[in-house]
Amino acid sequence: MASDFDFFAPEFQGDVHPHFARMREECPMAKAEEPFDWYAVTREKDVRALLHDWKNWTSELGPGLSREGGGGVLVSVDPPEHTFDRRIVNRAFTPASLLAMEPEITVLIDEIIDGFVEKGEGDFMQLLAVPVPLIVIAWLLGLDPDLVQQMRPRADGVISADALAQEEMARQMRAAAEAEGGGDRSGATRGQEEVRYFLGKIAERRAMHAAGEEMPPDTLTALVTTELNGRTLRDDEIVGFMGFLFIAGSATTTQLIGNMIYRLLQNPDQLELVRNNPDLYETCVEESLRYDAPVNGLFRTAVEDTEFLGVEVPKDTKVLCMFGSANLDPEMWEEPETFDVTRDYEQLKLHYAFGQGIHYCMGAPLARVEAKVALKLVLERMPNLRLTGEPEEITAPVLHGVETLPVAWDPPASN
Ligand code: HEM
Repeated sequence: MASDFDFFAPEFQGDVHPHFARMREECPMAKAEEPFDWYAVTREKDVRALLHDWKNWTSELGPGLSREGGGGVLVSVDPPEHTFDRRIVNRAFTPASLLAMEPEITVLIDEIIDGFVEKGEGDFMQLLAVPVPLIVIAWLLGLDPDLVQQMRPRADGVISADALAQEEMARQMRAAAEAEGGGDRSGATRGQEEVRYFLGKIAERRAMHAAGEEMPPDTLTALVTTELNGRTLRDDEIVGFMGFLFIAGSATTTQLIGNMIYRLLQNPDQLELVRNNPDLYETCVEESLRYDAPVNGLFRTAVEDTEFLGVEVPKDTKVLCMFGSANLDPEMWEEPETFDVTRDYEQLKLHYAFGQGIHYCMGAPLARVEAKVALKLVLERMPNLRLTGEPEEITAPVLHGVETLPVAWDPPASN
């Protein structure tokens, strides 16, 4: 059988909705042959079935297409390691502690807007959607926001260069950390600069801990001091967590903020509804996540030879769970192709943009707060926001949405 689709073809980027619709209708278990045989499931019930059956559909080989394994943490492990990892992250932050960041995030976004609002035009992504999540994740991890912003191009390069995205970055970082630790630098390739920086920060905190000094209440402190099952984390494990969180929490949230503003500008009636009704901010964020899932999909791997949707699937075959397509399945959603900010909020939250099951995104409350505050302040402080050109679409197959968003607004002087 020939490939049913080419996930890496340029036409698959951009407006993925028609491709998803065709796949759901014509080939719900679609086969791809590059660089080896793999499949993609696009119907909501099939995506759900795989995500909730980790015993038969493992994450051990990572959520990307690579069969080398992932970063060895969180999204690349099954229970019991996975349970251990979630407990570690829970020591670092909880949904409540993430929600408590809202006032700081409000000040941050206000200040960033202060910095460009006089201009009256620019690329919304570079002005706001990119810096906000990077600075917030730097705070959360205990890193220097200025340095983290400089690292962004490298993180992007990794995502654009291949479909392995997040877990590849974490894997590279761990390899580099192990190589640094062992004095063998041969394993250290991409991300080495970041790893050195992370290792330096870890060493600082370990010294503070040993001296009994008071430590900042951030993720780095939690990772350095947490003792679970009678042991603390090694440096390379901490670097693995940091590398994963750094990528998982930044590029994704950038896409959410950019995609949401883009859809509102494309749908002026919806923009008016939200503008006149702040109660709709949260629903608008959720509808954006449903309509434009920032992560198109992630993989699971068959533990044994099996059959799925009538297709023989050999052991170790990778299957892509298309979150973005499940979010548009007419079996689950009424008029799924309509961007509608008045949908029922509780029902909307069942979308797949943050995954489902045991790997459900741990940063979801933070991404939601960042997007809600960005929406509120953009509406308040950038009046008459409008598109001034066609946005460019992001070309990384894992991520979905706009790369650039050329906009103009009425600057304060002309108000
Ligand atoms: C709009 C923004 C975001 C999107 C779309 C998103 C998406 C996802 C998805 C789809 C998964 C599931 C992975 C899988 O099933 O294999 C996931 C997991 C995860 N995300 Fe997010 N994420 C976002 C923001 C964040 C942020 C801000 C953080 C950190 C503060 C974060 C931390 C995590 C963690 C720790 C996991 C791993 C959970 C596990 O494996 O148990 N994410 N995310």
